[in-house]
Amino acid sequence: MITRRAFLRLVGGSAFAMVSLSAYAVGIEPMLLTHVKRYTLTPPHWPAGLKLRVVALADIHSCRPWMTPERIAALAEEANALQPDLIVLLGDYTAGTKLVTGRVRVEEWAEALSGLKAPLGVLSILGNHDWWTDFFAQRAEAGPTQSRKALEHVGIPVLENDVVRVEKDGHGLWIAGLADQLALLPNKAKGRDSFQGFDDLPGTLAKIQGSEPIILLAHEPDIFPKVPSRVSLTLSGHTHGGQVRLFGYSPVVPSDYGNRFAYGHVVENDRNLIVSGGLGFSILPVRLGVRPEMLQIDLG
Ligand SMILES: [Fe+2]
Repeated sequence: MITRRAFLRLVGGSAFAMVSLSAYAVGIEPMLLTHVKRYTLTPPHWPAGLKLRVVALADIHSCRPWMTPERIAALAEEANALQPDLIVLLGDYTAGTKLVTGRVRVEEWAEALSGLKAPLGVLSILGNHDWWTDFFAQRAEAGPTQSRKALEHVGIPVLENDVVRVEKDGHGLWIAGLADQLALLPNKAKGRDSFQGFDDLPGTLAKIQGSEPIILLAHEPDIFPKVPSRVSLTLSGHTHGGQVRLFGYSPVVPSDYGNRFAYGHVVENDRNLIVSGGLGFSILPVRLGVRPEMLQIDLG
């Protein structure tokens, strides 16, 4: 038996816990607990003597009040302070939820990202939301998207099925960027039942000559089963780690593979994938057990 007073205490305590947890998941974890997630690895076939620090920012999802230009500029400063050789942006710069108090124009978030600096450069790819929020690109069923134009305007190259070669300490290295795998929304009027991607992995990799290592940037990790072992490392975002992840399990993951590529470092058949939990959020402004993160990856 439980006394009335104990019952009320229990209910009151639970309500307080629920309110606290909600405040944490909506306010504190998404906003304040941004951290640097560090990985150190030597991928297969990595040349001896090549040490490379890559910092990756994923799923910024700019919007007010959650991801303002001021906050993005502060994140750029934080990324620079890690002294990376190379900075990569893994897509989804535009808002991913309608629960916002205001929009951030593409020019504003791009300007904030223009503060990123690294000796080998800053390279980017696009994500599904960069396509989905672009009415004209959807209608035309083609780019360039507003996000692409804004990034290029501030001098950040956008790789859509394209590659760039960089050099560090006498070693050459390829950065390959895949076009988005979910770019076009389903559209009955146009006879499209499901999402249509513009990704062309074989065509992208065909642009690379020789045997120098390759880092592949692919917004959605679902491409990973098709990535050949020739690629040293694949970097993805998109999943936000499910946004809610407890005890290594995410109940909701926007991936055909469920939890397989939801978050973190995945090694399959000697091939390496790192999925960032990202910085912003989509659908609901909630994060629990997946703090906003930027990646620092030390290779060598
Ligand atoms: Fe995404």
